[in-house]
Amino acid sequence: MTTVDDMEQPHVIVLFGATGDLARRKLLPGLLRLFEAGLLEDCRIVGTSLEDIDTETFAKLARSAIEEFGQGQLTEAGWTAFEGLLSYVPQSAGTGALASAVHEAEESLAASGPGTGSEVRRLHYLSVPPKSALDVVRQLDDAGLVERSRIIMEKPFGTDLPSAKDLNRRLHEVFDESQIFRIDHFLGKEAAQNILAFRFANGLFEPIWNRNFIDHVQIDVPETLGLEGRTKFYESTGAYRDMVVTHLMQVLAFMAMEPPTSLAPGPISDEKNKVFRSMRPIEPHNVVRGQYAGYRGKEEVADDSDTDTFVALKVEIDNWRWAGVPFFLRTGKMMAQGARVISIAFKEPPLTMFPHGSNAGMQGPDHLTFDLADQSRMSLSFYGKRPGPGMKLEKLSMQFATHDTLTSGSVLEAYERLIHDAMRGDHTLFTTAEGIETLWDLSRPLLADPPPVRSYAPGSWGPNAIHQLIAPHAWRLPFERSWRDPNATAQ
Ligand code: BG6
Repeated sequence: MTTVDDMEQPHVIVLFGATGDLARRKLLPGLLRLFEAGLLEDCRIVGTSLEDIDTETFAKLARSAIEEFGQGQLTEAGWTAFEGLLSYVPQSAGTGALASAVHEAEESLAASGPGTGSEVRRLHYLSVPPKSALDVVRQLDDAGLVERSRIIMEKPFGTDLPSAKDLNRRLHEVFDESQIFRIDHFLGKEAAQNILAFRFANGLFEPIWNRNFIDHVQIDVPETLGLEGRTKFYESTGAYRDMVVTHLMQVLAFMAMEPPTSLAPGPISDEKNKVFRSMRPIEPHNVVRGQYAGYRGKEEVADDSDTDTFVALKVEIDNWRWAGVPFFLRTGKMMAQGARVISIAFKEPPLTMFPHGSNAGMQGPDHLTFDLADQSRMSLSFYGKRPGPGMKLEKLSMQFATHDTLTSGSVLEAYERLIHDAMRGDHTLFTTAEGIETLWDLSRPLLADPPPVRSYAPGSWGPNAIHQLIAPHAWRLPFERSWRDPNATAQ
């Protein structure tokens, strides 16, 4: 592994898929935000895609994307400075044209700074469909743009174990592992990193973070959005490959890993990979696959499509910390609510001394809840006495929201954080080839014999079978009590 750069070096960022959905929604607005925050000072951005457009049209497109999806107000001065960083070269212009555009950008950086063009680093962001990724890698090799470079790869990394291994092997023919940054944007979310701070910076919680105190864990990521414009991609992936093998498992690893020897990339990846290696293979009887009613009528979807737009599963980890503690994962499209919640249910006391009718234990176990939303929150719920005569209990909670803190303004969006980390060569929040291959290996029983998809109504919480999957527990969402609004005035 390379070491992390202390200083930011001048960079040329080559954005493949520069006119695509991810670039418009996240990458271009994110790059502007990094630039405005002074984290992208000596930089040029070379966009490329299949669109036959010129730099001027690309800049217009970037501006409208930033206006639509960016955070905060775009000022004329801010835009003019950022626009000066942009250039564009269509894929149809060929490999030579791409190489020249990058060299030109390097020369212009050298001219404006103290160094020379040969000191400039290159960051290639492959925001392209999985099937095009290797073509881009070969193009970079042919263009002589591998030297001094790092490459950010988008998921999914393969669709099963053989394809993931093949992808990694071919990638390694051109790039060294230390140059490769496999992005999983859930790890860039401030709230996901807060799991590490919460667990390892406090003496209070780590001692109870195990099978003696925790009953089960839920990682629940329902989405209200459907698959407009993405049905083609989903037909070849589905919810399990798109969300579980990637995002949900990465969050699970942060939740379940042993304390790393340090917060450096190597030790963190080692501990995450140990969690994956301790997991039992994903068996079909522990999985509910769903498809929302109406999906089959969509464009580019086969009439008998077996694609999962929803998946819920039970994951078991066979190690000393977690043996016997099930982790329930759920995610799907067109569901009742959008949320990204980790919910930890604690064991209940062995005996109750409270009188009948006191409500003890009637509102579920104590929970620690992490909301991974951009405005992240955390809550600890427990029973307390309702004021007044007798002994009536009720569920109370202590809640904390990041946006209530003074430093909430410095929150970086997940992609911003991860692009910046990749520029500094910091692998801490990126996934490894080994981890991904282990996950595909564990998925073999499910992929070989997937249970049939069950239909669910759009706007619901998934097929009915989700309740049997989690019994005798219950899904935490929808919440019985909503988050408190700290700005609300007491009645
Ligand atoms: C993407 C998936 O990686 O993550 C999408 O491909 C999903 O299907 C998205 O909607 C969810 O990310 P976020 O940050 O909006 O929760």
